[in-house]
Amino acid sequence: MDNTLRFNEDIDSWETLMFLYNSALKEVATKLEILNDEFIHVHKYNPIEYIKSRIKTPESIVKKLKRNGYESSVENMINHINDIAGIRIVCSFTSDIYRIAEMIGKQNDLTVISVKDYIKNPKDSGYKSFHMLVSVPIFLSDQVVNTKVEIQIRTIAMDFWASLEHKIYYKFEGNAPAYISEELRDCANIVSDLDAKMLSLNEAIMQAKKEQKEQE
Ligand code: GTP
Ligand code: MG
Repeated sequence: MDNTLRFNEDIDSWETLMFLYNSALKEVATKLEILNDEFIHVHKYNPIEYIKSRIKTPESIVKKLKRNGYESSVENMINHINDIAGIRIVCSFTSDIYRIAEMIGKQNDLTVISVKDYIKNPKDSGYKSFHMLVSVPIFLSDQVVNTKVEIQIRTIAMDFWASLEHKIYYKFEGNAPAYISEELRDCANIVSDLDAKMLSLNEAIMQAKKEQKEQE
């Protein structure tokens, strides 16, 4: 049966909708915590630095609908806004990103709707992150509703860049002078170099530790 979230006699108010999106965020956050704990338990290593989640504000939902040419209606919001419930996973190394994405993909009770790899294919802005749109079943007392959650996975360095770029973008309302966009793209490259250096340094550290242990 198709349990996709729909605005009907069952889900008939803004409050119920927000309740669903909030529940979906909680479900995904708990899953991620368990995956992280298991990873620590098995590999003695913590792939996730921190997780942030948020529900999109009504103002930005309306703004985004308008920007994409849709009328403001709950129906349009459910069907066309995929990041009402959003969760951001920040990890140490780029290798962690793919490890986490793979673990999420293997969860039987999550459906991966789409994946966008802005690490292999960065945006023109320089933006890098790994995005997954998933749907999670929310078990209510009398029905099951599949609810969408956007997951963004990035390194601390990518998160640092994205946060600052977002602030600057908003300062110029999207019309930043060309040289500023250019500088931001340069910064994105520096961030990528830093991520690559940190990753190879980490690999070198692990190797050195292994050799030390073998000599003991
Ligand atoms: P919107 O960008 O939200 O309109 O949706 P979309 O369908 O284009 O999805 P996409 O995967 O491109 O982006 C979704 C989210 O990724 C955004 O809401 C931001 O959080 C983040 N994002 C995408 N591009 C950029 C960017 O150039 N800079 C920053 N700072 N964040 C970005
Ligand atoms: Mg976009």
